[in-house]
Amino acid sequence: MSKVTVVGAGNVGATCANVLVTCGIADEVVLLDIKEGVSEGKAMDIMQTASILNINTCLKGVTNDYAATEGSDVVVITSGIPRKPGMTREELIGVNAGIVKSVTEQLLKYSPNAVIICISNPMDTMTYLIHKVSGLPKNRIIGMGGALDSARFKYNLANALNANPTEVEGIVIGGHGDTTMIPLVRYAAYRGVPATNYLDAETLNKVAADTMVGGATLTKLLGTSAWYAPGAAGAQMVKAVLHNEKKLISCSALLEGEYGESDLCIGVPAIIGRNGIEKIVEFDLNDEEKALFKKSAEAVHKTNAALNN
Ligand code: 2OP
Repeated sequence: MSKVTVVGAGNVGATCANVLVTCGIADEVVLLDIKEGVSEGKAMDIMQTASILNINTCLKGVTNDYAATEGSDVVVITSGIPRKPGMTREELIGVNAGIVKSVTEQLLKYSPNAVIICISNPMDTMTYLIHKVSGLPKNRIIGMGGALDSARFKYNLANALNANPTEVEGIVIGGHGDTTMIPLVRYAAYRGVPATNYLDAETLNKVAADTMVGGATLTKLLGTSAWYAPGAAGAQMVKAVLHNEKKLISCSALLEGEYGESDLCIGVPAIIGRNGIEKIVEFDLNDEEKALFKKSAEAVHKTNAALNN
């Protein structure tokens, strides 16, 4: 029996729970929120699709009842406020740090062996905060950003190539921020053939630029932060852990010398399996990519420093 808790029944958390249920990723899912009725209502709404979609997962919504989350194999933290148009993810730190800290402590009381997936923003800094608060082994804490940014990169690449997104390769590393993420254009490919064989530099630059502001573009259109792809990317990570998939997914991981950096969480390619981050994979970056990664790490360090304020 596999059990997953999703904390936060806002748009992202509810979408993550919905994907976990409709794709049959876990046997049992608990959706927890602080607002009375919201998680219960969304869980009921989702479970009313059971006979339509042939659902076998049990989803339960609870208000602040952490005892109901007991024995979770994976917990997903989406709590906190989302950004509004014109805001950066970094501006959310003051409010969200307090929330993420208290949620982590409560969750670990009931699920001390869980793998934690962090979606709350600013995601790299919140993932780092969870390390500091919990003291857990570094493999058990995964930040979701790179999975989402890579999905957006593949979406933009597929549109430019007029290809099926599932046949396109693309990975984004670095921070989960409008100016800190690094779409690795040199490694983008269509069925194993470098994308540079098909697309000119100008088109590839646009694909990369659109990817970097992918979240901001949606925030402007929607009036709040996006949720379908962020929620699905969270569920993709849960699946990789629960099903021991050993998939290479870009995620925010605690670095201890990898990519020349340490004491921060930032997006890097990693093998995700039952133990969480099973291995950080070091891509061979060229000088330009190395310089971008260094700059991105400096920006993430700077946001982390605000945790002490
Ligand atoms: C985004 O990029 C939620 O940070 C997330 O849409």
